[in-house]
Amino acid sequence: MDLPLNDLSMIHRFTPASAEGAPPLLLLHGTGGDESDLLPLGGLLSPGSALVSPRGRVLENGMPRFFRRSAEGVFDEADVRLRAAELGEFVAQAREHYDLARPIAVGFSNGANIAAALMMLAPEALAGAVLIRAMVPLTDPPAFDLGGKPVLILSGGMDPIVPAENAARLARQFQAGGAALTHETLPTGHGLGQMDLTIAREWLAASFG
Ligand code: MLT
Repeated sequence: MDLPLNDLSMIHRFTPASAEGAPPLLLLHGTGGDESDLLPLGGLLSPGSALVSPRGRVLENGMPRFFRRSAEGVFDEADVRLRAAELGEFVAQAREHYDLARPIAVGFSNGANIAAALMMLAPEALAGAVLIRAMVPLTDPPAFDLGGKPVLILSGGMDPIVPAENAARLARQFQAGGAALTHETLPTGHGLGQMDLTIAREWLAASFG
């Protein structure tokens, strides 16, 4: 069963759990994607999990995103904070509406960046996060304490959008914020591929299975 929109604050799709105890996933698409993009990935990463997949509310030349930017890699950080708060509110609504445990975010690119911001600004909102091709969403985040929540960052060693230094800085922010961090750099670019799937699936099973 796959339920479409309802009256929650973000357009989204929801797939109910089909396996007891499987952790819910919050799926966050990249620039130009939508709420349908990552549903197949979610089903492969954690079979039987409930899937909640919102659509970013910002439009950049018609392309949905989760926050504004002024150029590639140059983020409107006031908007990052605002949109992360809105996403946190949506997560709380979705948990209540669908009766869900705290979800694990799985974000790609722009979706990974808003997930990272939400972890930093509201460490209680999520159970953990898989951040694929993420970069630093906030240059100066508040001090935060994730208390050992698992975070996986999957970077691309040939990513033309996310410099290695930026991904390393993001990893340091999460380490300082008390995450149980795994950071892997794959021999690939910005696109999501089979290696991401394999590593993320094994990491999810080891961390939450
Ligand atoms: C962003 O948030 O802008 C990403 O890092 C790059 C993208 O989404 O294209």
